[in-house]
Order: sequence, then structure tokens, then C-alpha cells
Amino acid sequence: MLIDAKVQEGFEIARKSRENAHAPYSNFQVGAAVKFKGIDKIYGGCNVENASYGGTVCAERTAIFSGIIENAKQEIEFVVVSVDTNPVTVPCAFCLQVMSEFASEDMPVYLGDLESIKKKVLFKELLPMPFNTLDC
Ligand code: THU
Repeated sequence: MLIDAKVQEGFEIARKSRENAHAPYSNFQVGAAVKFKGIDKIYGGCNVENASYGGTVCAERTAIFSGIIENAKQEIEFVVVSVDTNPVTVPCAFCLQVMSEFASEDMPVYLGDLESIKKKVLFKELLPMPFNTLDC
């Protein structure tokens, strides 16, 4: 797969962020990176688990929230995820619902392991029907 330099930078940030994952309960460490349109900096995230399991926040959401803290609401250009499994994993439905707030249908989501990006999927393939009261 031909990977754009900025997406490759995102992959490296996701892989590096994963090293900070706090995952003593699942032992499944996840790294993520989010690039927002018009903003050069790419934001990394990792899963942060909690002894009260529901308090856990996924890597994708910590990355998105970091970007919003610095820039307020912006449109996501792409997301990269890095895990140590084969096959690679997709973002959970909670994270997809959060992405739906800031992403277009065609926003690419790159899925990687620790070595490289293995797959590119579009947001709409992962979550074709997000919940949205504005459409009701
Ligand atoms: N996890 C993520 O960080 N991202 C996902 O999209 C799926 C799941 C985390 C949550 C939890 O810490 C661990 O992976 C196992 O579910």
C-alpha cells in the first residue's frame, strides 16, 4: 500500500503513543493518532484503563480529545491505529460514534500493527449509520 508521508508520521506517533498505554486489566495496548484538517500537528493517544472497567478510555478517543483541547472543534483528516495483533483491529463503536462528531463519511482510518499500516478503511464502512439527533 502506498502511504503518504503525513500518514506514515501518524503511524509512527500511534505506535509510539501505544507505549504509554495503561492496560493492566486487558493487557491489550492500543496506540492511535489523529490528524485534523488544516492543523499540521498530529495528536497521539493510548488506551487508559481503570480498575472500574467502564472508566476506561480508548486510544482513539484520548487522541481526539487531545486535539480538541488544543484546537477546539476541527474536522478529522485521518485516524491511525496501532496494535500488536494479526489481524489488526478496528476502532470500537464508542470511538466511531465519537469520530462521527468530527469526521466526514469518507474520512480514512488506517489500521496497523507494530510494523506498518496493514489496511485502509473509510469511516462510513466502519459506522454507516451514526446516531445523530440533528437528522431526526
Ligand atoms: N481499545 C482501544 O483503545 N481502542 C479500541 O478501539 C478498542 C479497544 C482498548 C480498550 C481497552 O483498554 C482494551 O483496548 C481492551 O478492550
